[in-house]
Amino acid sequence: MRKIIVVAGATGNLGGKIVNALLAKDVEVRAIVRLETDIEKIQDLEQKGVKVFPVDTSNKAEISKHCVEAHCLVSALAGLEETIIGTQKIFVDAAVEANVQRFIPSDYSSDFTNLKVGQNRNLDVRRKFHEYIDKTFIKATTIFNGPFMDLLTTDMPLILFKQKRILCWGNPNQILEFTTTDNIAEFTAAAAIDENTPRYLRIAGDKLSCNDFVKLLTELTTQKYSLFRPGGIGLLNILIKLTRFFSPSTNELYPAWQGMQYMRDLMEGRIIFQKYDNDRYSFIKWTSVKEFLITEKVF
Ligand SMILES: NC(=O)c1ccc[n+]([C@@H]2O[C@H](COP(=O)([O-])OP(=O)(O)OC[C@H]3O[C@@H](n4cnc5c(N)ncnc54)[C@H](OP(=O)(O)O)[C@@H]3O)[C@@H](O)[C@H]2O)c1
Repeated sequence: MRKIIVVAGATGNLGGKIVNALLAKDVEVRAIVRLETDIEKIQDLEQKGVKVFPVDTSNKAEISKHCVEAHCLVSALAGLEETIIGTQKIFVDAAVEANVQRFIPSDYSSDFTNLKVGQNRNLDVRRKFHEYIDKTFIKATTIFNGPFMDLLTTDMPLILFKQKRILCWGNPNQILEFTTTDNIAEFTAAAAIDENTPRYLRIAGDKLSCNDFVKLLTELTTQKYSLFRPGGIGLLNILIKLTRFFSPSTNELYPAWQGMQYMRDLMEGRIIFQKYDNDRYSFIKWTSVKEFLITEKVF
């Protein structure tokens, strides 16, 4: 019998890619979306062969109905506490009620198990959700993948293309991990149909230090890149506090200070994985930062 995988957040960026990766396998894909979800996004999923169920996402029984006989519920929801804790709790409870054995929470982040409480707001929310999920009967698997590699050419101010500099706080030899959303989606789809996954799976498409970025960008552009080092982690911590104080934007998912918290955690090294699960599914071809930048045609 074909496995049934239910996806929450299927209309999102990563969720959409997870759906595509699942559709490439021999499984039935169901998407549970909210009543106000854009109709065009729903039609797009349906045209691909996904069974889409718009529901009131505060209604556990409604969600549970569509989870019956599913092997795993994959969440790729994005949001603050209300969504990551509030809505995900309802999805987990609904899955438990429908006797779904496995759940993949919407983490897809750096490994926050070693972070101190209060260090990173968005990751604290996920850790708090873990306290809940770990008390339920469902078997949860978190996927840690480091920052999305895709952010290197969009929102992450690490490669300063115009200035030909690499922004570096602290140690320029500190290893930083990156994974493309395509690789994360392939890995998540494989983990979703897996019979038995551990509580945490850690992957990284590539690992580079700021010094490695300088070398790589110099090679790729044939122009001389260098480090831009405004200061150490201590200074970045002060800037985070000041930015948060003067511009709290508490209701935003990614206010400036939140981006800075991610950057600080990355450069501080506390979130670096000790062991990787990249080889768990041997068919996945991991994209390196070099390959990604060449494909993106950013030069
Ligand atoms: N490691 C990294 O660098 C990195 C970067 C970005 C994101 N992420 C993580 O990846 C995950 C997915 O993020 P994304 O950027 O792909 O998200 P996204 O594109 O913003 O999509 C969010 C999805 O969640 C749904 N959603 C949001 N709130 C909901 C609610 N209250 N009830 C039901 N559905 C709701 C949206 O549905 P509608 O279509 O109805 O709005 C949409 O399908 C998140 O955990 C995020 O933190 C990690």
